Amino acid sequence: MKLSVIGCGYLGAVHAAAMASIGHEVIGIDVDAAKVESLSRGDAPFFEPGLGDLLRAGVDSGRLRFTTDMAGAAGSAVHFVAVGTPQRRDGAGADLTFVDAAVNALLPHLGPDDLVVGKSTVPVGTAQRLQPLVEERGASIAWNPEFLREGFAVKDTLEPDRLVYGVGGQTSDRDVATLDEVYAPAMATGTPRIVTDYATAELVKVSANAFLATKISFINAMAEIAEATGADVTMLADAIGHDARIGRRFLNAGVGFGGGCLPKDIRAFAARAEEIGRGESVQFLKQVDEINLRRRQRVVDLIVDSFDGSPNGRRVVVLGLAFKPDSDDTRDSPALDVAVRLHGLGADVVCTDPEAIGNAQRQHPQLSYVADVEESLQGAEAVVLVTEWSVYRHLDPARVGELVARRVMVDGRNCLDPVAWRDEGWTYFGLGRP
Ligand code: UDX
Repeated sequence: MKLSVIGCGYLGAVHAAAMASIGHEVIGIDVDAAKVESLSRGDAPFFEPGLGDLLRAGVDSGRLRFTTDMAGAAGSAVHFVAVGTPQRRDGAGADLTFVDAAVNALLPHLGPDDLVVGKSTVPVGTAQRLQPLVEERGASIAWNPEFLREGFAVKDTLEPDRLVYGVGGQTSDRDVATLDEVYAPAMATGTPRIVTDYATAELVKVSANAFLATKISFINAMAEIAEATGADVTMLADAIGHDARIGRRFLNAGVGFGGGCLPKDIRAFAARAEEIGRGESVQFLKQVDEINLRRRQRVVDLIVDSFDGSPNGRRVVVLGLAFKPDSDDTRDSPALDVAVRLHGLGADVVCTDPEAIGNAQRQHPQLSYVADVEESLQGAEAVVLVTEWSVYRHLDPARVGELVARRVMVDGRNCLDPVAWRDEGWTYFGLGRP
């Protein structure tokens, strides 16, 4: 099939490359000329495992092209809208500027019977609002939320655990058939597919993210209680996680969630609920957000306490800047936030990360960055691990002990073995662990 993908960020670039890899002819469209140029060469403009190979294969096959020109969308049967919906500058709601601009720019290039497919995470009501604009051109619109995780984006796109189609209007049956054809390989392997209305499809996405954020904040709230009682939140998570109704995944207490989705999605959801007069229904999301942000301060406090309240001029090494491992994304990253807060308190902060230094540096040029982990650790008076990259999880406490000036480790992801580190003379602090 001929497809266009509008917006080539973490979502759209992966979607475009994945669709080309299953045989479609894809044109990716983005307003950022540098990004388009990089993608056209088959180079991923951000770090995502497996994306580079997929892009190169797509570009080499001739089935994957990129352009800044929206006219390139003409002739495609299906147009995916995959632009960002960041938090508004002036409030908690989602900024729909990019979605509206993308759809409006696409309208003149739509053919009759084309299908516009929203993939961006949007406030409930968005598809219905856009429907008349699209239908005026004889085309139709569906909402098909994307659940990919950064770091696993290629796999999640090619082998989704479910497909959700929100459809409406006269051509719903045909639109469902069209989407089934787009996702033929996933359909052939029996991927569950839920066909529903626009509102449900939009809400599936935000409620899934709200649930995941709540799960993380739940265990982080338990970490706060554990800290006050001497209990161990990691064992608590293991024990409650054996209950299949609860499950162990997403119960890792630590410095909390970040990234381009969870934080802004729960805020946008709460803001949208207020707009529709149901603010109280998701009021708990404000607490989910607050618990999450408190954990960042807890990590900072542990460091400050280790210096008896005076971190000024003391060298603190921050291991990790990305919001999670296997990503270079520093949007709303707890790791970067911890670094910035410590710097603000006068600490001599040195940051390192295998992939995210470039993005962090653009956001916070005031911090010091060292790419090599051993070099970064030289002379540290406290080390704080805030992104659980494999290379940090496997650090040898004896070797690191030789590099630092003082053996203090704050494990903001509860991913190190406290016994191994303490045995090497480290003062080890976890979150919610005795
Ligand atoms: C999330 C959703 O998982 C995905 O389905 C959606 O499409 C986009 O948002 P992503 O932002 O890539 O994906 O990250 P995710 O793996 O969900 O992690 C989010 C944050 O939660 C990270 O900062 C991670 O470190 C943190 N986290 C995750 C925890 O603190 N504890 C956990 O147990 C799990």
